[in-house]
Amino acid sequence: AMKNELAHLVASVPDPPTRRAFDTEMQSFFLLFTRYLAEKAQSKGLEWDKISSPGKDQIVPYASLSATQDFSLLDKLAVLKVNGGLGTSMGMTGAKSALEVKNDMTFLDLTVRQIEHLNTTYKVDVPLILMTSFNTHEDTLRIIKKYANQQLRITTFNQSRYPRILKETLLPCPQRADDDKKNWYPPGHGDLYNALLHSGVLDQLIADGKEYLFVSNSDNLGAVVDERILKHMIDTESEFIMEVTDKTKADIKGGTLIDYEGQVRLLEIAQVPSEHAEEFKSIRKFKIFNTNNLWLNLKALKRVMEQEGMDLEIIINPKDTDDGRAVIQLETAAGAAIKHFKGAHGVNVPRSRFLPVKSCSDLLLIKSDIYSLEHGQLVLNEARMFDTIPVVKLGDHFKKIANFQRRFKSIPKIVELDHLTVTGDVNFGRNVTLRGTVIVVANEGQRIDIPDGCVLENRKL
Ligand code: UTP
Repeated sequence: AMKNELAHLVASVPDPPTRRAFDTEMQSFFLLFTRYLAEKAQSKGLEWDKISSPGKDQIVPYASLSATQDFSLLDKLAVLKVNGGLGTSMGMTGAKSALEVKNDMTFLDLTVRQIEHLNTTYKVDVPLILMTSFNTHEDTLRIIKKYANQQLRITTFNQSRYPRILKETLLPCPQRADDDKKNWYPPGHGDLYNALLHSGVLDQLIADGKEYLFVSNSDNLGAVVDERILKHMIDTESEFIMEVTDKTKADIKGGTLIDYEGQVRLLEIAQVPSEHAEEFKSIRKFKIFNTNNLWLNLKALKRVMEQEGMDLEIIINPKDTDDGRAVIQLETAAGAAIKHFKGAHGVNVPRSRFLPVKSCSDLLLIKSDIYSLEHGQLVLNEARMFDTIPVVKLGDHFKKIANFQRRFKSIPKIVELDHLTVTGDVNFGRNVTLRGTVIVVANEGQRIDIPDGCVLENRKL
């Protein structure tokens, strides 16, 4: 039935070249869907007892990597940002990377600055590649237009657009190829490999003499190019490196690396049987998590795509449509590709290489005086006396980006802050300073306005 419906969708495209491309896309989708059905029937998954912590050679500490002065290696590198997500958890409807994060610059602007700086400092030619989705393509093009005359080469390509699946009937939501946006979804950053291949970008990179690709999330401002890791990858002839970092209690989202019958693999919470969920989240057995900073060998990638195919664990993402129908989205994660590559392993990097913005609390920190910018890179303010960054917990009234922006007339000064908790209807005036531990709680029906210029030090309101 799914196959018929897809053929029907394909037939609804009038223009032949567009139809062929769409057909390829639907074939990839169908492959994923068939795998989903097969897995559902067998209820096969990882066997928990076979999972063990990765060995010493499977996760190498960053400090053990040797420094290098050979920056010419960078000429073989390209940088790719996965930029297809919307940041729905922050209530965004456009590309998250189009959000202004610091000094009126967006994530994308900062990434461009970082790579331009790299290219001019070391006289190399590292191109920037952006994977967008139908959700983020326009926003992305608008931002990079202003860099058209710059030194940096920027390539964009669209990731796949797959049909959402009705949970009840297992049929596609869209009726036609040009059916409304809400019937489609971008199938996760694991789609990167298919999209690189089908867009022709993979072949183009190889033709341009690029051998390595550094992939990271567009909202991770800590993911700057690191020549040490690149050198390590070349020296060890590893085809795939995943940057992992020490897990804290707050890190529950990221996947972890495991040893599965002697092979390194990514384990995501979605794959963990519910009776083991607490064990997965604990930091005792699973000490590290995936930052999604990935380094891959392009020729090896091409070989895997052509010879074995990328077989990534399916993540089932259940959603409800606006009109209340239950749908599922079949997605994959880029890091799951690790099992396909030779010599693949993790490098345990400092936390500073993982500075994502997943919530408005993260955004407050990044925007604040805790960090300043150097060539698009965030650096910790020297005036901060402690090694740690403040713990910021903004409540639900600050969850959506629009509310966050409305509730802070300007970003408070927080270099001397340890801990901030804000709950309820609270509004911050201009030039507020927060120090030590500050807790502001507005109860139901109450509203608290922090006046302009106010200084709060170890206070509970
Ligand atoms: P996440 O889905 O983990 O984070 O994507 P997010 O963008 O904060 O998403 P929400 O808030 O849960 O909606 C991590 C990275 O992967 C990209 C995103 O743009 C982000 O850089 N991504 C995600 C894609 O490129 N394609 C996808 O289909 C999904």
